[in-house]
This record gives sequence, C-alpha cells and structure tokens, in this order.
Amino acid sequence: MTRLVLRPTVLLAIALLCLHLAGPSPLFAQPAAPAAQPVPAASLPRVHFVATGGTISNRDGGRLTAEDLAKSMPGVDRYARLTVEQFANVASSELTLKQWLGLAKRINDLYATEKDLAGVVVTSGTDTLEETAFFLHLTVKDPRPVVVVGSMRNPSTLGYEGAANLLEGVRVAADPAARNKGALVVLNDEINSARNVTKTDALRLQTFRSREYGQLGVVDRDRVVFFSQITQRTNERVEFDLSKVTELPRVDVIMVYQGAPGDLIKAAVDSGAKGIVMAVAGAGATSGTQQEGLAYAAEKGVFIVNSTRAGSGRIAPPRGDVPAAAMANATEAQRRRRQFSVAGEDHTPVKARVLLMLALTRTNDRNEIQRIFSEY
Ligand code: DGL
Repeated sequence: MTRLVLRPTVLLAIALLCLHLAGPSPLFAQPAAPAAQPVPAASLPRVHFVATGGTISNRDGGRLTAEDLAKSMPGVDRYARLTVEQFANVASSELTLKQWLGLAKRINDLYATEKDLAGVVVTSGTDTLEETAFFLHLTVKDPRPVVVVGSMRNPSTLGYEGAANLLEGVRVAADPAARNKGALVVLNDEINSARNVTKTDALRLQTFRSREYGQLGVVDRDRVVFFSQITQRTNERVEFDLSKVTELPRVDVIMVYQGAPGDLIKAAVDSGAKGIVMAVAGAGATSGTQQEGLAYAAEKGVFIVNSTRAGSGRIAPPRGDVPAAAMANATEAQRRRRQFSVAGEDHTPVKARVLLMLALTRTNDRNEIQRIFSEY
C-alpha cells in the first residue's frame, strides 16, 4: 500500500487554499473600522455664521437669507452647532467702510463675550472679498478664526457651489487647527490666508489664489489639512484698535500707466485723501506728470505708499544709509518726498490701501507706518 506523505509546506498551502475558498476569515480580515458614533450635539463646536450677501445668496427672484443659507448645508450638524446672523445682504462692493467697522466690532464683541464660540464664518461677494477679509484679518484680535466664504455661481445656476463652500467654511471655523492663522478665505476646497489671497479670474471657480505663496491648506472629505503658516502679525498680535474709531481716513489708489497725469494725485489730495497708494510700474516707476502730483502730495503732508501693479513682488524700504547720504544734498522738496513715502512691501495696491487706512488710525509718523508695512 502506498502511503501519501505530505510535506509541511504542501499542508500549509492546502490549508491556505481551503481558507481562501471558505471566504473571509477573522484570521485575515482587516480590523473593522469603528462604527461611526454620533457626536452628542452639545459637545460639537459652536460656529457663528454672519451673512453679508454676495453671489452666494443672489438667487433669481430674491436673495437667500442667512437662515436659508444655513439650511442649504446638508450634514452641517455633524460638524458644528450653528448660530446665524444677517449683517447685510448686498454685493461685496456695496459694503461701506462704516459697515466694515461694524462687522469687525461685532466679531470682536462676539469673541469677547462668547467664550464657547469656536469660530466665525462670514459670507461675502467675491469681487472685493479679499479687501474685506484682509480688513478682518487686521482687526479681529482673538486666536479664534474668521473664515470668509463666497461663491462664483449664484443659487439659480446649475453647479452652484455656495452651499459646499459654506459647509467647508464651517468645518474650518470649527477646527482648532485654524486658530492663530489670521482671517482665512475658503472656496473651492482651498484655504488661503486673507493676507495673500487675491481674485485672479472674473468667472472661474478656482479664482482665489495666493500668488507665489500658495494656499495654507485644503478641506478634504475626511478632514481639514493645513500645510503652512503665515509669519506676519495676526490675531492677538494685531495692534489696530477700532473701539474708538468711527471713520476710516480716506486713502485712494492711483495706477501708474504710460503718460499718466499727475493731476489725479492732486485731485485726491484736494478731495481729502490722507494717504495715496501708488500702484507703481515694476519696482517703483511712475509715468507722465505723476512726479509733480507726488511733490504736491508731499507738500500737503499726504502719505504715499508704493505698491507694485505687477501682481506680485516686493517694494523694499530704502536702505537706511543711502538716503542719509543722499539727503545731505537733497532739496527741501526731496526731503519732504522722503518724509512721506512708504514702501508697500509685498502687498497688492488694494491690500496696501486697507493697511494704510488702519495705520493712519494710529500714527502720522512715517517710520511707524513703514514699520507697520514691514510687520503685517
Ligand atoms: N459679484 C458679486 C459680489 O462680489 C455681486 C453679486 C450680488 O450679490 O449682487 O458681491
């Protein structure tokens, strides 16, 4: 009689084959994912939503209210307890500077009095969103985030992305990782710093870009992820105190272009501008008769901030030693020009204007204004 002798390796192979044929076994199965436990509502972070209007609410036949927008986000109650407030319901470019002051004061008050609040979300139209967001970035003094959200398609359009953007904004505002990053702009799954972001396309969804600096993070299906941090002063380190400010000083932006007339600068000065941002060509060029206008501004004690119109790049303050030497032979007019001229660093002209308005609520000292531009 022949005896069948099976080697141990063959036995192991047969055993594995049987297990495979028998289907999934506890021996080989992946550890089961823990069943999703509903988070008790009371322990969810609270997010306050302030609506100001914009395309996100601009439905044909009547604008969506803050309540309507809050209801448009399915599943929001998995992430946060939401409270809502209608601050305004207008296009972003219709918000007044007084409303900016009111909005910043309102958010500062909320943070001062509501310690259980995790974050604030503000909806805005996208056209001037970057200016409003930067204003809040510079004026809300609390570690908790202000997240500004908008949409490019209105609620009556196929592919409206407003509810998705708003939900992502709420998720960011509820996330402790969003603290101490200044104001954040959330659209199209991306988180950008209000300091660096700018609208780069009139129509496309991926319009908000942080120039060469890149986004701070993303909002993904599973979680909010931050990749980087900005290094300038934000949150509790901002120095602008709006509690006694009832009006922002007038600051205008004037573009440099070939053969530009200096009389526009004179007109701004004569109309009461306390500061002018020159959107200079390249690293500082003016054109036409603009130098005459700038001399007039200096004579009248109006500050000039130079900010490049190139879209990115930095205007550096003059080196301390060079002007000192050059000033020895300078005329009185040149000295005065120097005394009222500030380098805008890497801020775009519209952002430089926001910063100059705030700087002028604190000081009329040129070196202080330059310091502010270098620190924010
Ligand atoms: N383009 C929109 C904005 O930036 C305005 C649309 C509207 O709300 O009327 O605000």
